[in-house]
Amino acid sequence: MPSLDLGVLISGRGSNLQAILDAIAAGRLDARVRLVISNRPGVEGLARAERAGIPTRVLPHQEFTDRDGFDAAAVAALREAGATWVVLAGFMRLLTTTFLDAFPHRVVNIHPSLLPSFPGVDAQQQALDHGVRITGCTVHLVDAGTDTGPILAQAAVPVLEGDDRDALAARILVQEHALLVRALSWLAEGRLQIAPSAAPGGRARATIAGVDTALGFAQGGRAPEPVGEGA
Ligand code: GRF
Repeated sequence: MPSLDLGVLISGRGSNLQAILDAIAAGRLDARVRLVISNRPGVEGLARAERAGIPTRVLPHQEFTDRDGFDAAAVAALREAGATWVVLAGFMRLLTTTFLDAFPHRVVNIHPSLLPSFPGVDAQQQALDHGVRITGCTVHLVDAGTDTGPILAQAAVPVLEGDDRDALAARILVQEHALLVRALSWLAEGRLQIAPSAAPGGRARATIAGVDTALGFAQGGRAPEPVGEGA
């Protein structure tokens, strides 16, 4: 059975990185984190990696003249460290084909909405602004668009009365941690299948063989009331 040699890219807090490290330490995820790269120095995620004895690299994006330069440096560092899969765990930059072509169908992102709704920054506030009743999180493969790549798994999270951005983000984050670890464990089990689009220029589809990849209101939700007739 394959296990995953992961490179993890972060830009900040690193709680999703921590979920990965905890799952590996607990034997729930067959993977090794070979390298953590941050485009920002001094962030909490780097300290989390260091506490776990994981090698780290800081690649300040301002020091590169263009995105390709940053991406080429990241690819070189990941290859040198032995990473063959990459997780974007709160990494706040778009990647170019320089990066994506180096890890085809092997770059995974966690996003705090049910894509394709609310791609890009502050998906939780976008969900509140639109008044949706259900949002959640998505683990997907990364392509050259913003949060547009093939979806691997999703978890639903209800928007509750009185939610503000931080309350909603905190409840989604609990699901992110669980979903990301589960999705990675399916990848480690070799369950990923990619089906190219039948239509020219259409989307590839990713499926995870043999498991239910839609998680419901696992935490923080309410059971729906039955709808009475004529009410
Ligand atoms: C998460 O909400 C993730 O979905 C988004 O950025 C946030 C990162 O959180 N892409 P953390 O750094 O993993 O704590």
